[in-house]
Amino acid sequence: MDTGFSRALLAWYVRSARPLPWRATRDPYAIWVAEVLLQQTRVEVAIPYYHRFLQAFPTVESLAAAQGEEVLRVWEGLGYYARARHLHRAARLVTEQGGFPTTAEGWMKLPGVGPYTAAAIASIAFGQDVLALDGNGLRVGARLLGIRRPLDDPSARQRIRAGLEALLPRGRAGEFNQALMDLGATVCLARSPRCEACPVWRWCAAAAHGLWEHIPARPAKRPKPHRHFVAVLVRDPAGRVLLVRQPPRGLWGGLWILPQVEARTWRQARQRLERVLGVRLRRRTGRPFAVLQHGFTHFLATFRAVEAIPSARPAVGRFVSPRSPGVPVPVPTRRILERLRT
Ligand code: ADE
Ligand code: SF4
Repeated sequence: MDTGFSRALLAWYVRSARPLPWRATRDPYAIWVAEVLLQQTRVEVAIPYYHRFLQAFPTVESLAAAQGEEVLRVWEGLGYYARARHLHRAARLVTEQGGFPTTAEGWMKLPGVGPYTAAAIASIAFGQDVLALDGNGLRVGARLLGIRRPLDDPSARQRIRAGLEALLPRGRAGEFNQALMDLGATVCLARSPRCEACPVWRWCAAAAHGLWEHIPARPAKRPKPHRHFVAVLVRDPAGRVLLVRQPPRGLWGGLWILPQVEARTWRQARQRLERVLGVRLRRRTGRPFAVLQHGFTHFLATFRAVEAIPSARPAVGRFVSPRSPGVPVPVPTRRILERLRT
């Protein structure tokens, strides 16, 4: 790529930048407020709050002098209230220090300002030559540069950052950064980018190779962790089986299950099961009578159900008919009970 890219991007930005209110000011305070709003809030939602906030606190001094409650009231409805508290605390630091930082490094020292926000403010309000790269920028950069690795790959992120930094036009980083934001928001959309309307398609590797559908690649799904449980089947003389009720929070949310512990084998599980039930347990057969798997949101579970004979009637839980337990049971427990004959 050459400087043609940056020239085309900036020309497009000058021509068709979104007319956002924080782009009509050079006041670092207003730009800072906007960037904090935009951290977790979409542009359309941020705009009215931006006006409302600046009306209530037009200067950093007025914000520093405000009560915490007043600041939160103006922020009300936006969520992520830590942003408002950080902004307030930072305003007090700025007035104590007698002025705004002028570099991204300086901005990063203020509460609530991360690397992206710091680079955005330093480039837009102070003209520092730094790249502000957020998730949208990463996607656009990956396509432009033809970087096919998923965006959660640190080496891919590093290559995108280096590639875009090399294109950063000196003295115009603020416009460059906001041009990339606009490109990501209006043209280089996550799904079906509008390459036909793109001001930089000529320099775009994804467009050249017909790869825009495939860049960025979806992150590889991590295999879920695998956990193992041993469940014990204890029967009373009438053939009913012992279920124990689970606490309302936690995996089983108040349901009734076979007594179980996290373990791979009966040897590992027995003592803990004995403690749960308050009786000694003797395994009835050498192998589990049921082994089954169940997928939870965050892990895969294998259940080994072992039948055991208790030294006495356990004082916990309830004996129920395996065919119609009469209490709410989760799917894995139901499947284990279905394996029982008699
Ligand atoms: N998102 C974060 N900062 C922005 C800005 N300055 N303009 C548009 N969208 C943004
Ligand atoms: Fe995105 Fe298409 Fe433009 Fe490339 S040409 S930057 S894929 S919109």
